[in-house]
Amino acid sequence: MTIAICPGSFDPPTNGHLDIIGRASRIFGKVIVAVLENQRKTPLFSVNERVMMLKRLMTSYQNVEVDSFQGLLVDYARLKNATVLIKGLRGMGDFEYELQMALVNRKLAPQVETLFMITNNDYSYLSSSIVKEIAAYGGDISALVPAEIRDLVLQKIRANDEKQQF
Ligand code: PNS
Repeated sequence: MTIAICPGSFDPPTNGHLDIIGRASRIFGKVIVAVLENQRKTPLFSVNERVMMLKRLMTSYQNVEVDSFQGLLVDYARLKNATVLIKGLRGMGDFEYELQMALVNRKLAPQVETLFMITNNDYSYLSSSIVKEIAAYGGDISALVPAEIRDLVLQKIRANDEKQQF
C-alpha cells in the first residue's frame, strides 16, 4: 500500500486543501494529513486546534489520517513509511518555491517522491492567509472554508482582534 503525505500549515484548512486531500485519497492507499509544528511562524490556530479541525473534516474519509510533525518532512515521511509527498500547485508563484523544496527533499531522501497536484480552478486564488484577511475585515468566507469549521474560524479571528485591541 502506498502511503502519501499531504503536509502543510493548515492555518486554517481551506476548501482548496480539502480538494487536494480528497483527490489524493482516491489515488493512494493511505493519506496522512500532516500539520507542521513550525516554531518560526506565529499561527492563528494552535497545532491541536488545526489537527482537531482537520479530523472533523476527514471523518468520512476512511483512508485519511491526521497528524502533526516537527522537523524535516522527509524524516517524518521515513517514520511513517510514506513514499509520496503531495503538494498542491495554484500557479507559477507556488511552483518556484515548491520546485526548490522538492529538489532539496529528493537530495535528503531520494526514495521519497514529490507529486504535484494542480489545484481545482475554483480555488486557484485561495490561501489560508486570504481567508484570515477576508474574515478579519468582516467578509464572507463561506465559499472558502468548509461549512463545518466556518464559525470556528470567525470566532477565532474575532477573539484575536479583540486581544490585539487591548
Ligand atoms: O502550508 P505550507 O506552510 O505551505 O506548508 C509548508 C510545509 C509544511 C510543506 C514545509 O514548510 C515543510 O515541509 N516544512 C518542514 C521542514 C522541511 O522539511 N523543509 C524542507 C527542507 S529544508
